[in-house]
Amino acid sequence: MTWNTLIDVSRDSGLPLTAQIQESLKQEITGGALHPGTRLPSSRQLAEDLGVSRSVVVEAYGQLIAEGYLEALQGSGTRVAAGLPGAGSEGPTLLDGAGRAPSVRWDLRAGSVSGGFPQREWLAAYQRVVQRTDRHDVGYPPASGVPALRGELARYLGRVRGVHTTAGAVMVVSGFAQALGLVCAALPRLGIGELGVEEPCHPQQRQFVAEAGIVPRPVPVDAHGIDVDALSRTGVRAVLVTPAHQFPTGVTLSPQRREALVRWAQDVDGWIVEDDYDGDLWLAHGARPAALQRQAPDRVLYAGTASKSLAPGLRLGWLALPAPLRGLLARVRSQRDLGCEVFTQLAYAELLSTGVFDRHLRRQRARLRARRDTLERALRTFLPDGRITGSAAGLHAYVLLPHRTDEAALTALASQRSVLVRGGRYCHDRPWQARPALVLGYAAVPRSGLTEALGEIGAAYAELTGGARSPARCA
Ligand SMILES: Cc1ncc(COP(=O)(O)O)c(C=O)c1O
Repeated sequence: MTWNTLIDVSRDSGLPLTAQIQESLKQEITGGALHPGTRLPSSRQLAEDLGVSRSVVVEAYGQLIAEGYLEALQGSGTRVAAGLPGAGSEGPTLLDGAGRAPSVRWDLRAGSVSGGFPQREWLAAYQRVVQRTDRHDVGYPPASGVPALRGELARYLGRVRGVHTTAGAVMVVSGFAQALGLVCAALPRLGIGELGVEEPCHPQQRQFVAEAGIVPRPVPVDAHGIDVDALSRTGVRAVLVTPAHQFPTGVTLSPQRREALVRWAQDVDGWIVEDDYDGDLWLAHGARPAALQRQAPDRVLYAGTASKSLAPGLRLGWLALPAPLRGLLARVRSQRDLGCEVFTQLAYAELLSTGVFDRHLRRQRARLRARRDTLERALRTFLPDGRITGSAAGLHAYVLLPHRTDEAALTALASQRSVLVRGGRYCHDRPWQARPALVLGYAAVPRSGLTEALGEIGAAYAELTGGARSPARCA
């Protein structure tokens, strides 16, 4: 077979050739034509078949490797990745294969977590609530959440994130994924069909919004957070933001921008969805920014999750809603499910009320701080050209690379060295315009592994740029 029957490239299309090859391959993989394990032609062969330069194919392969569609195993060329969720089956849009066991030694993807879950405390709390519960308590729960958890969350969010809310305004959801689905279903009922999203942002969220029938309108983010003037120019009336720790760049929305954003919402009679996904995992020295919601409780739909602070597998999140939207969101929710699992809600309420969760967070912050310090040290040693942007928080760091860096080739070389890492372009709507970067998750890899993984990335970078840096080996 010559590959130009599967992959269609045209110089007249507005899209760069690399993006066209990527899209074609993705479609063939998710459509089921290219099965897991299928060998792809060498970059030289494909370039010849398509009549493009080899570097175009190398970049397309590199990006698809970084996104988990392909895998490059040393000595055996490039293949369609094994166990890809989208290959021949429908996987959830919001997951990018983070749950899949990758065939690499070190998994530095931002969504990957391992360890840190307070097993003993959770088990004890869960056991207590099950023992305490009588048969009346295990009927259908209130769809917006059990009162005990809504009350604890209102207190916790006020105390820790400065959120102005009440138990009645809190809705317990199964993670931010459900919160975003509910918001997308509610927006058309407010006469809103478009949602501003940060550029860059969590790429699956952008796709999820589009698949929910809402048009995502990317709005650039700079060192101060989302560009509110650019947001105004889009004409949208709703926006999804990550103000405390922008995903993925890590920047914190500046005080001026916060004010401008709130003013924008008031001027357009609009809504701000605040995704505070890692707000309680502030690792930097100095003051932690409060939630944006406290500046405009009547305009901001505040959303939080236990996915970063406890575990994504709990599927537990919450919304603190402005009064005018509570009824609408409750109605939308009632058409979709009958609430979240009761014991999980009660166990989490128990952890909050007894101070066990606070103690867990202190341990978790110390653990993540140590990992981040290791990452920063390893970066200085092995990739001194990289520069971390934004604030130290959560489970990942964004590292800008020099403009000349071939990001896709770097992530491809890293994967050959058994390090799975995403490039920053993965999070951009217009990847070809973005500055090269790496998104480094540090929650799934122990400290010694971080040093080793950064050593391998540094060696890959040196290979790419003609330098000579030898990888670190752990003792
Ligand atoms: C930007 C962002 N928001 C929210 C979440 C959490 O989503 P959920 O609560 O559905 O697990 C994540 C998890 O990776 C994320 O990266």
